[in-house]
Amino acid sequence: MSRPAPKSFHVKSFGCQMNVYDGARMAELLEAQGMHAADSAEAADLVVLNTCHIREKAAEKVYSDIGRIVKKTADVGEGRSRPMIAVAGCVAQAEGAEIPRRAPAVDIVVGPQAYHNLPQLVADAAEGRRALDTDMPAASKFDALPRRRRQGPTAFLTVQEGCDKFCTYCVVPYTRGAEISRPWSAIVDEAKALVDAGACEITLLGQNVNAWTGEDDRGRAQGLDGLIRVLDALPGLARIRYTTSHPNDMSDGLIAAHGEVAKLMPFLHLPVQAGSDRILKAMNRSHDAAGYLRLIERVRAARPDIAVSGDFIVGFPGETDEDFEATLAIVRAVDHAQAFSFKYSPRPGTPAATMEGQVAPAVMDERLQRLQALLNEQQHRFNLATVGKRCEVLIERDGKKPGQRIGKSPWLQSVIVEDGPAIGTLVTVDIVSAGPNSLSGALVEQKAA
Ligand code: 5AD
Ligand code: SF4
Repeated sequence: MSRPAPKSFHVKSFGCQMNVYDGARMAELLEAQGMHAADSAEAADLVVLNTCHIREKAAEKVYSDIGRIVKKTADVGEGRSRPMIAVAGCVAQAEGAEIPRRAPAVDIVVGPQAYHNLPQLVADAAEGRRALDTDMPAASKFDALPRRRRQGPTAFLTVQEGCDKFCTYCVVPYTRGAEISRPWSAIVDEAKALVDAGACEITLLGQNVNAWTGEDDRGRAQGLDGLIRVLDALPGLARIRYTTSHPNDMSDGLIAAHGEVAKLMPFLHLPVQAGSDRILKAMNRSHDAAGYLRLIERVRAARPDIAVSGDFIVGFPGETDEDFEATLAIVRAVDHAQAFSFKYSPRPGTPAATMEGQVAPAVMDERLQRLQALLNEQQHRFNLATVGKRCEVLIERDGKKPGQRIGKSPWLQSVIVEDGPAIGTLVTVDIVSAGPNSLSGALVEQKAA
């Protein structure tokens, strides 16, 4: 059965920043086809659910979302049918044709390496043809995407994708494929386009962003620090960040860049996952706790005020009370500015899913609570330590009250600023108070970003 080609779309992204980036690029692609963005799924002719497969809860969310959309649009009236539904992202890659079998309302399934084909898939679906593309083509999707446009003050830029590390709990090597680094010139061009379109902060993205390698325009071998240094010279760009990093790829050059590159913000997301060497080995992390701590020491020597963030998994198969205590010990030793922590979730096809010693849910709950209490306390203490400091804040959005704006400190804390500085400006503030999740800043002066 054919249906009218969609005129409007709504992209909803779940999961990591890479998905936010992909979602933005899909929106640009659909706009380049003459479609316009709708504010909600209900108001759109095409809904793209850009999904995450990292934990079971995230992966299941897509099915409840599809159910909700179908229910809400069952009777949209005025001769309209329910929106076309596309499932993109990592669930699309992992589950493929299983998705329309389980949720027949789904019209399109498109994996993270194939979304440049979305216009064709939409056309196929409009013609009533099955539209599924989970290929991982050799040619890069990036070459087929339109130039970046319409930016807020902060933008993501994918420089590296995929993962060859095969941590035993993780689906990413299967959903995002093998590690690839985008070419130097493509990244520099995209950064310039983002700045032209209004971005003053760029976050370089990759599942293993610090594994980025390439050659610069003079044929010299470069690492992520080289890229950071070339972006540092870009007029109009005020701030550079990068995420997510792997401890084994933290090169001397990258550590040095933290002490030398003015625009590189003092923030490092460097997941360690656990503190027990036995568990780290079972996770196939190929680093131990002591090595991680030495690394953090070196980063802090290069940039003493750096804010350290991480990811933690509790309840990995075989984790004993003693192993978990080792996680608490490494958390205490590192002292985080912020961190994410999760209960282990067995993922289909990963080695850990079939390991002995799966931990009982109640034990995981209790461990997660204890870990999060400690991390929250560290985050609050880190925030309190910035009270009295003068720093720059990049204003990103409106606050709740009239005249209030919210921006980010160099250490990635949210800062609430009164007196309405314009969005997209860098302002100097004195930090006057701190809560567990945000700071208040008093405006000192304002300069154009
Ligand atoms: N279960 C729980 N957490 C996981 N992560 C990755 N895979 C799993 C899993 N199977 C966490 C890791 C990673 C973050 C993005 O998600 O901590 O760094
Ligand atoms: Fe989720 Fe990982 Fe896919 Fe990001 S790359 S959406 S975190 S599964």
